[in-house]
Amino acid sequence: MAAAILDGRALARQIRARVAADAAALKAETGLEAGLVVVLVGEDPASQVYVRNKESAAREAGIGGRVERLPAATTQAELLDWIDRLNADPAVHGILVQLPLPAGLDERAVIERISPLKDVDGFHPQNFGLLAQGAPRFVPCTPLGVRELLIASGVETRGKRAVVLGRSRIVGLPMALLLMQKGPGGDATVTVCHTATPDPQAIAREADLLIVAMGRPEAVTAEWVKPGAVVVDVGIHRGAGGKLVGDVHHASVAEVASRLTPVPGGVGPMTIAMLLSNTIQAARMIFQAQPPSSESQA
Ligand code: GUN
Repeated sequence: MAAAILDGRALARQIRARVAADAAALKAETGLEAGLVVVLVGEDPASQVYVRNKESAAREAGIGGRVERLPAATTQAELLDWIDRLNADPAVHGILVQLPLPAGLDERAVIERISPLKDVDGFHPQNFGLLAQGAPRFVPCTPLGVRELLIASGVETRGKRAVVLGRSRIVGLPMALLLMQKGPGGDATVTVCHTATPDPQAIAREADLLIVAMGRPEAVTAEWVKPGAVVVDVGIHRGAGGKLVGDVHHASVAEVASRLTPVPGGVGPMTIAMLLSNTIQAARMIFQAQPPSSESQA
């Protein structure tokens, strides 16, 4: 029997409508327009598409801000100066530096320079540390979107065996931390497989919940999946003939899994919805910590 589809596009639409209502309420209550700045360095074609999608989703939700497009030749010092200016700009509540950065730029130093209170990507060590401690503030958008999709779809994670394929800082590692948290969408028993794992297929086959974030087109076939498992495909690649495919071989896995995310229309739209949601959270937190009127009253 074919797996039921976990429809990220439909849920993302609902979340974006809620974020738009939140943005309007924030403006009505405080006069504040939430602001997101996405920094894109260089001309990576996939990044250009992702950034354009983020920009139009933010605009549609009533979130202000812009994309800063910097040349590939931007130096580390110039990029850090940009971040310092955005950190100091009271109209900017969320900062996202699109990854990967061009060769020669130090990704880690760039991420550490972003104010942890504006780090809507959740990549700053302070936010990562809070997640690891079970007290999350900003959570990376893709794993957060996967968790929202699982909860909204009624997928039980508590006491289940979850296997994450991939250990990236953007997806695999924070996904594993989220699945281990106490509470809804968590309480799973988690195994992370990576490039040094012998026989990841055998481990994947033990999973009730399989999260695939390996970055290899259609690498996971039916033989990797326990019958009835829930499978989440985080990959996105341009396949032969221009068709978009994931890390999962959709047609064969759909025959064994009970539920499966499509590509496109699964995890991707959820990532953008969570970025918008994190941006509203950042604007509210910054406003609560420092309402603009408190200075003039002091
Ligand atoms: N590149 C691919 N995914 C992401 C993401 O979630 N955030 C950033 N900053 N870069 C990415």
